[in-house]
Amino acid sequence: MVVTCQISYFAAARSPKYFTDPLKFCPERWLPSDHPQFDLKYASDELKAAKPFSQGLRGCPGGAIAVSLIRLFIARVLWEFELEAVQGQEDLSFEKDFKFYAYWDRPSFWVRFKPAHRMRDY
Ligand code: HEM
Repeated sequence: MVVTCQISYFAAARSPKYFTDPLKFCPERWLPSDHPQFDLKYASDELKAAKPFSQGLRGCPGGAIAVSLIRLFIARVLWEFELEAVQGQEDLSFEKDFKFYAYWDRPSFWVRFKPAHRMRDY
């Protein structure tokens, strides 16, 4: 007999069973616990419950590349620009307005990019 065991990663990553304020955007929850910006509120978060790249034999082989590229991209953008959400979009809600039907169906979210005027020595 073959038994298939499966969980929903989407549900696990958004469950209060594993995360404090699971629907709140708090990237600092991913910091190491000895980081000065780590908030003890998230100390009991079970970070392994988030598996954006899946796992196992058919898990994403590009996870490490993707994380490196995303870090580099965000660091470069934040180095070059100050970002500001355009006003009038306060009602936009991930829960209400973003849908996933194999691909994301998402509304526009306008962001103003202002040059940060940092010294360029690269
Ligand atoms: C944020 C970026 C990415 C996310 C969230 C992501 C996520 C995933 C997920 C969830 C799967 C399915 C795993 C499964 O079926 O269990 C997958 C498969 C795969 N990903 Fe990614 N991925 C990303 C970027 C990349 C990159 C950059 C590459 C290549 C350089 C890549 C190559 C692949 C390949 C080849 C598979 C198929 C693996 C297989 O079926 O054996 N992915 N990815």
